[in-house]
Amino acid sequence: MSSTEAIQQAIPAELSGMVRSVKFADGVATIIADAGGLGRSAAAQLQRELEQAVGAVEGVSEVRVALMADKVQRRIIAVGSGKGGVGKSTLTANLAVALAKLGRKVGVVDADIYGPSQVMLLDPARGRPKAEGNTLIPVESEFGVKLLSMAQLVEGGKAIAWRGPMVGQALGQMMEADWGDAELLLVDLPPGTGDVQLTMLQKFKPAGAIIVTTPQDLALIDATRAIDLFRQADIPIVGLVENMAGYACPHCGEVSDPFGAGGAESAAQAMGQEFLGRVPLHMAIRVASDTGQPPAANEGEHGEVYTEIAARLAVWLDAGRA
Ligand SMILES: Nc1ncnc2c1ncn2[C@@H]1O[C@H](COP(=O)(O)OP(=O)(O)O)[C@@H](O)[C@H]1O
Ligand SMILES: [Mg+2]
Repeated sequence: MSSTEAIQQAIPAELSGMVRSVKFADGVATIIADAGGLGRSAAAQLQRELEQAVGAVEGVSEVRVALMADKVQRRIIAVGSGKGGVGKSTLTANLAVALAKLGRKVGVVDADIYGPSQVMLLDPARGRPKAEGNTLIPVESEFGVKLLSMAQLVEGGKAIAWRGPMVGQALGQMMEADWGDAELLLVDLPPGTGDVQLTMLQKFKPAGAIIVTTPQDLALIDATRAIDLFRQADIPIVGLVENMAGYACPHCGEVSDPFGAGGAESAAQAMGQEFLGRVPLHMAIRVASDTGQPPAANEGEHGEVYTEIAARLAVWLDAGRA
């Protein structure tokens, strides 16, 4: 039996499925193993067990284990808008919750340094992230979504004057945190098309972007700008979401369109972009959101709306996995 065969046989059966290659030369065994989807400590344990098992083989004087991370490639979806107040954060939070309900492992990065709101939306209990060395460990929200927000990183949610390098560092820490088995990170970007957005896009290269807009023309012009920003950075656009469409009067039930109707859908069409869905302007959405109860967490018509958009995103993600 060659040494390579002896090494292969020494690897416990429950680990052999993760081993991608075994090489042996001059007493040195080199093992490549797939640690995708494993958390940090599970990956470290895999490494130790391989080192022990292979190290015990006769003739092996050194074991080198290389772990390939991310078999489940963690993908980033940026949620952007041309301007603030269009409901970008509300959509991000609800999409995350809806995706978690569909069985996806999701994390949310609140990168909106000017108005971080994901803590209010997703974690009313206000957990604080822990740190292992320089690595942040996201807060696990009650909706099965992991969360890191700029707001968690400052004392008592105090507003601070972020300077460029600090912003970059904080963003980096959040993006490179220990997201464990999260396969998808939704990033709530600051509104507009400034430096933070550009740095974020270039450095962390999202797999795709969702653009949120309200139906009126002016918002659509801003949305076009946001789309251009992503295009410049070579980031595919998953599609547009129209928020605050059609207002149902709580008294008489009549539906009116304070911001116009269908603007985003026809704009999406004109720009050759997907239209992912329309979220109505409804008091219940704001009230639920303000109290840390994302409508997507509950059955009900508004939850449905978010679930449908989340399902379209899931289809897009799965199509790109090939
Ligand atoms: N579809 C909706 N119906 C009613 N209120 C909404 C809706 N979407 C968002 N809101 C409310 O509008 C305000 C702004 O939304 P937010 O998500 O914070 O916007 P952005 O992140 O784009 O600045 C919040 O008070 C939110 O609760
Ligand atoms: Mg916001």
